[in-house]
Amino acid sequence: MKTALVLNGPNLNLLGTREPAIYGAQTLADVRALCESACAAHGLALDFRQSNHEGELIDWIHEAGRAQAAGTLAGVVLNAGAYTHTSVALHDAIKGAGVTLIELHISNVHAREAFRHHSYISPAARAVMAGFGVQGYALAIAGLAGLAGS
Ligand code: DQA
Repeated sequence: MKTALVLNGPNLNLLGTREPAIYGAQTLADVRALCESACAAHGLALDFRQSNHEGELIDWIHEAGRAQAAGTLAGVVLNAGAYTHTSVALHDAIKGAGVTLIELHISNVHAREAFRHHSYISPAARAVMAGFGVQGYALAIAGLAGLAGS
C-alpha cells in the first residue's frame, strides 16, 4: 500500500479558531480524520504533518522525493499556507525532489487579496485545488490516488 503525505504549513495548526468565516470551524484534527477516510477509500496509507517552519517543510519534501523514488509514496498534498506566496525555496524543493505534488488551499485564494494571487508552488505542482473548504483535502487525495493509479 502506498502512502499519501499531507503537509500543512504555517498557521494551519490554528484551524477551527483562525478566521472561521474564511477557513471554517473544523480543526486540523478534523482535517486529519477526513484525510484518513479519504485515504482508506482509495487504498492509501496517510502520513499527515504540520509545521510552522519553512525548512522543516523543505526537509519533508526531500524525504517525499526519496520515498516516491523508492515506490512507497503516491505523492504529496501540500497546503503551504502563506509560504505559497513567498517561498522560492519550497518551489525549488518540489522541483529538486521530483515529487508528485498537489497544491491545496482551503479558501479560493484568487478571490482574496492580490498578494494571495501569486503562487511559487503552482509552477512546480502537478495540480492545484482551491476554494472547496477543508473538503478539498479529500478531493486532492482522490486526485492523487488517480494519478498514482491506486
Ligand atoms: C491558505 C491560503 C493562504 O493564502 C493563507 O496564507 C493560508 C491558508 C488556504 O488554505 O486557503 O495560510 O493556504
